[in-house]
Amino acid sequence: MLSVKSDHELAVMRRSGAILRDLLVYLEELVCDGVTTEYVDRKALEFILKNGAIPSFKDYNEYPANICISLDDEIVHGIPGKRYIKDGMLVKVDAGVFFEGFHTDAARTFEIGQVSEIKHNLAKVCKEAFFLGIAQLKDGARLGDYAQAVQSYTELNGFSVVRDLTGHGIGRELHEDPMVLNYGKSGRGTRVSKGMTLALEPMINAGKYHVTDPDESDGWTIRTLDKSPSAHYENTVIINESGVEIITL
Ligand code: MF3
Ligand code: CO
Repeated sequence: MLSVKSDHELAVMRRSGAILRDLLVYLEELVCDGVTTEYVDRKALEFILKNGAIPSFKDYNEYPANICISLDDEIVHGIPGKRYIKDGMLVKVDAGVFFEGFHTDAARTFEIGQVSEIKHNLAKVCKEAFFLGIAQLKDGARLGDYAQAVQSYTELNGFSVVRDLTGHGIGRELHEDPMVLNYGKSGRGTRVSKGMTLALEPMINAGKYHVTDPDESDGWTIRTLDKSPSAHYENTVIINESGVEIITL
């Protein structure tokens, strides 16, 4: 079921989004060569709690950590642990915040020290694709309008759009309808309307779009099948009359 949020609900979601936005700015400073992903996760939890919120991902389908940290060829759902972040890595930090009954969800791709030109371009194109995609959205637009913009720009740059993972509606639940594909055709797909809240999150690969099953040993980590690097950029947005409002940036 597609839900439209009331003005009051949107006001709460903006506050949830502001905490998440600040969290990601804080984590960008902290994520560097020589820190473990577990340390970043712990600092994220501290920050979220200090702001009167709860990490959305903890215990979601038994997810064991507070945020997701995925390195290089890991696309999403990397579980923080004893591993060290190193110079040259692409580090995807994905976090969700639950505040006064509402979730917001956002992700960034951080470049650690000097990364390869491919990784740098991949991160840049992923973010640009997100902005080109959302430029298509407003009351009455279709999700295919967003998807085609993301896909065509990504492929023009020689990269591929992950197909097996999607964005989603968001609100009282972390994942609500609709499912938001990052590839497709304009003029197709669900029509969005004013007051809908969506987590839009292109994931793009330097190589082919195929992904692995979740890692057997941890049950979560999803990687590129060809082991090429992957980038992720996500924000929670509100659809309005003439465009979108990004509430996690
Ligand atoms: N950020 C992810 C998403 O958008 C959610 C992570 S799933 C979790 O779907 F289990 F790790 F929480
Ligand atoms: Co999401």
